[in-house]
Amino acid sequence: MKTISILGSTGSVGCATVELIKEMPGDYVVDSLTAHQNWQLLAEQAKILKPRYVAVSKHEYYQPLKSALFGQNTQVASGEKAIIEAGEREVDLLMAAIVGTAGLLPTVAAIRKGTTVALANKECLVSSGEILIKELDKSKAKLLPVDSEHNAIFQVFENHNKSHLDRLILTASGGPFRDCSLEEMKEKSPKEALAHPNWNMGNKISIDSATMMNKGLEIIEAHYLFGVKESVIDVVIHPQSIVHSLVSYLDGSVLAQLAHPDMKIPIAYTLSWPNRMNINVPRLDLSKVGLLEFYDPDKDKFPALRLARESIKSGGSACLAFNAANEIAVAAFLAGKIRFTDIVTLVEKVLEKNIKAGPKSIEEVILMDNEVRKYTESIVGA
Ligand SMILES: NC(=O)c1ccc[n+]([C@@H]2O[C@H](COP(=O)([O-])OP(=O)(O)OC[C@H]3O[C@@H](n4cnc5c(N)ncnc54)[C@H](OP(=O)(O)O)[C@@H]3O)[C@@H](O)[C@H]2O)c1
Repeated sequence: MKTISILGSTGSVGCATVELIKEMPGDYVVDSLTAHQNWQLLAEQAKILKPRYVAVSKHEYYQPLKSALFGQNTQVASGEKAIIEAGEREVDLLMAAIVGTAGLLPTVAAIRKGTTVALANKECLVSSGEILIKELDKSKAKLLPVDSEHNAIFQVFENHNKSHLDRLILTASGGPFRDCSLEEMKEKSPKEALAHPNWNMGNKISIDSATMMNKGLEIIEAHYLFGVKESVIDVVIHPQSIVHSLVSYLDGSVLAQLAHPDMKIPIAYTLSWPNRMNINVPRLDLSKVGLLEFYDPDKDKFPALRLARESIKSGGSACLAFNAANEIAVAAFLAGKIRFTDIVTLVEKVLEKNIKAGPKSIEEVILMDNEVRKYTESIVGA
């Protein structure tokens, strides 16, 4: 039996994780569940999974959450520190499924404890890559990638012999605007941008998929996770989202992981790793899938890929700035303050002025992240 905590249990990845655990009663003991504001769903999950600890980051939801769990043997807490405490608690596996750099400190807390972390929260690796990798080396904690592309690579990557590696190939659906012109993209509304053709995800990652900032974040994520140069990582558009990524080797062999686009599959792999669990998802029948297409991304329409690569090459605080500016730009687009195509333009503008020497500690990551956010907000507000 494994003990597990789910940070961000009320989100899209969090809920899929909860669903899988509900399907395996007896295999997992749930230690902690956390949310930002959705205390109602958190309470519902807690009534079913009976965790030892629940935390909501907004203090105003402490009382309603506490009342909803009255009589249950679950400790209730609120505030940012309470979410970090959830990361510090001793468990076998922690699912890091908070969105954005808000998930950084609790994830670092888990890594410092030596906990195995199933990492969905790519933003925290992007903003503090080198520091996080050092923390992992120090504590001997393990990161299991949840992102479907990185999970696919993790499944087929011969980590023990990197010298055989030729290329990592990340697949991308191309998002909802894959076939739109740049002119058409300018007028796209949040509702249109949120309508991903293949995946049902949280708002931020859905917008990132539409701009392809998500693939940019994933290039940076792969660079840190697998310790490879940016120049070794390719991106290929694959509209069917069946091949989740590929690794090519020096002898010309290419290994890939294939599955229906359902996050339960990579999540289940991290829950059961190094074993596999039998889960209730439709089996892949390639004769029914039929056509699998692959083609190069349009670099002019999706400059996010170039910006991500330039950020890795620039080093210093560039990846941190890339991520922080994007988080603010996505929020501004969803709030109707900027147009869809302004998201990437804004990130590029911020990068021009905000690349410094890289942070030396997690505390410096937080300070620099805040600085870039304020700078980006000042441009949005102007
Ligand atoms: N969704 C996918 O299919 C998918 C696939 C690959 C990778 N990922 C990555 O997984 C992460 C989560 O994505 P998602 O789509 O599941 O996001 P989501 O649906 O928006 O859920 C985000 C979760 O984080 C919590 N949260 C938000 N802000 C917080 C804060 N300031 N402090 C503490 N908790 C906070 C939310 O709580 P409330 O519900 O209370 O707001 C919710 O539980 C992202 O980094 C994303 O890039 C997602």
